[in-house]
Amino acid sequence: MVIQPQLKILISRDEIAEAVHRLASEIKRDYQGKQPLLVGVLTGSFVFMADLIRQLDLPLELDFVRLSSYGAARESPGKVRVVHDTKTRLKNRDVLVIEDIVDTGITTSFLLDYLRKKEPGSLKLCALTDKPSRRRVPVAIDYLGLSLPNKFVVGYGLDFDQRFRNLPDIYALED
Ligand code: IMP
Ligand code: MG
Repeated sequence: MVIQPQLKILISRDEIAEAVHRLASEIKRDYQGKQPLLVGVLTGSFVFMADLIRQLDLPLELDFVRLSSYGAARESPGKVRVVHDTKTRLKNRDVLVIEDIVDTGITTSFLLDYLRKKEPGSLKLCALTDKPSRRRVPVAIDYLGLSLPNKFVVGYGLDFDQRFRNLPDIYALED
């Protein structure tokens, strides 16, 4: 039998759109005259990134990384690996990392340390969502969309066991 988890709406598509709009304004303001390289963290950030970049009137470029972590679906990883690296040369570029969620901070802080070694001209982080109460490793979020309570969330790119990424709103998963 397949157990259907309960989904409870937490953030509506309108609230998401408002947050994305605000983030785009902040990024546009700060990157005026620059040609930033946006690095999306696959897979979760792709929906957010697609909406965000269409509001950025900047000569930006895109690249992606994919990270893998060990552990069960709802557990945050303790060990992170880069399984797909950026293709673009990062040296002296204005790099803006696009994350779906910062939870314990382990993944994001690993990634920022990893990318910093490629000597970008600047390195900043934009995260759609944040669960500050779960933090184990400090992460400075330069552009933050929405703070979340300590609940596992799905939708708008975020998954549980690869499911629910296609939901247009963000839901809390309750079992
Ligand atoms: P970290 O705990 O900050 O390292 O987050 C690791 C990864 O776990 C994130 O990039 C997400 O892919 C995933 N994650 C953490 N919390 C959630 C959640 O509430 N929903 C879906 N994925 C999550
Ligand atoms: Mg992620």
